Amino acid sequence: MCRFEKQSIRNRVLTQEEMDKLGAEVLVSDFKQIKLEEEAQKNWDLFYKRNTTNFFKDRHWTTREFEELKACREFAAQRLVLLEAGCGVGNCIFPLLEDDLTLFVYACDFSPRAVEFVKKHPLYCPERCCAFQCDLTKDDLRQHVPEGSVDVITLIFVLSAVHPDKMTLVLQNISRVLKPGGILLFRDYGLHDHAMLRFKAGSKLGENFYVRQDGTRSYFFSKDFLAKLVEEAGLQPVANDYVLRETVNKKEGLCVPRVFLQSKFTKPSQSRSL
Ligand SMILES: C[S@@+](CC[C@H](N)C(=O)[O-])C[C@H]1O[C@@H](n2cnc3c(N)ncnc32)[C@H](O)[C@@H]1O
Repeated sequence: MCRFEKQSIRNRVLTQEEMDKLGAEVLVSDFKQIKLEEEAQKNWDLFYKRNTTNFFKDRHWTTREFEELKACREFAAQRLVLLEAGCGVGNCIFPLLEDDLTLFVYACDFSPRAVEFVKKHPLYCPERCCAFQCDLTKDDLRQHVPEGSVDVITLIFVLSAVHPDKMTLVLQNISRVLKPGGILLFRDYGLHDHAMLRFKAGSKLGENFYVRQDGTRSYFFSKDFLAKLVEEAGLQPVANDYVLRETVNKKEGLCVPRVFLQSKFTKPSQSRSL
């Protein structure tokens, strides 16, 4: 039996052997790194071609978190506006749309296939959703979403897929469409997550940054790194904590230690323009 654990605050402590493994890895060549950056969109689109809508499960924790956020409504019937940045096939948004009938959702992703899956979902309707394709590192979200109009932005396992040098661009982009007083909900891979220690030699791109077999990339966040990035984008921390869990890996028949970083940030009322 796997002991289910939910802790926060401290990060996972590694053994000396694990630390040596992480420190000793040789980086992927510059040539291959440039190619991976150029082909990032293609690799995610192929991911959805192979997996269609079957890879990620619906993310019900956001419904729980969102319950809390709904309390920020000024009046009961207020229509909250949410942006799911990097929506994939909609595993976050559809449980929310089902739960909150007054919600309006913008959803974007840079995989055209993923956006098509969102638009074909039975719960998708243009009165309540607007899905569009965009690269968060370079396409201005204001082409689709009015500046300062969004109450809640969700960024769930998306920033980890972006090159660390471009993460600030993503955060500045989403920050422009967030309302003053609005909330950014973040969840992603945390430093020393089991997935980070499982990468084979030849997968390391940089500090805490790795490439999977299929060419998609993954960064593993420390609290401090994220706090600094988000601050540069003009947002303020409300919560920023590790969530440590042990989950069963059915394939390996093992309990494995997972580390996620779950955070909330707000846009100050008097925010500087970026
Ligand atoms: C792990 S999936 C998460 C999807 C969704 N947020 C969820 O929780 O199910 C990461 C998503 O980020 C998208 N993505 C990666 N880089 C992006 C970028 N630069 N602009 C927009 N989307 C991006 C990928 O296409 C992929 O759908």
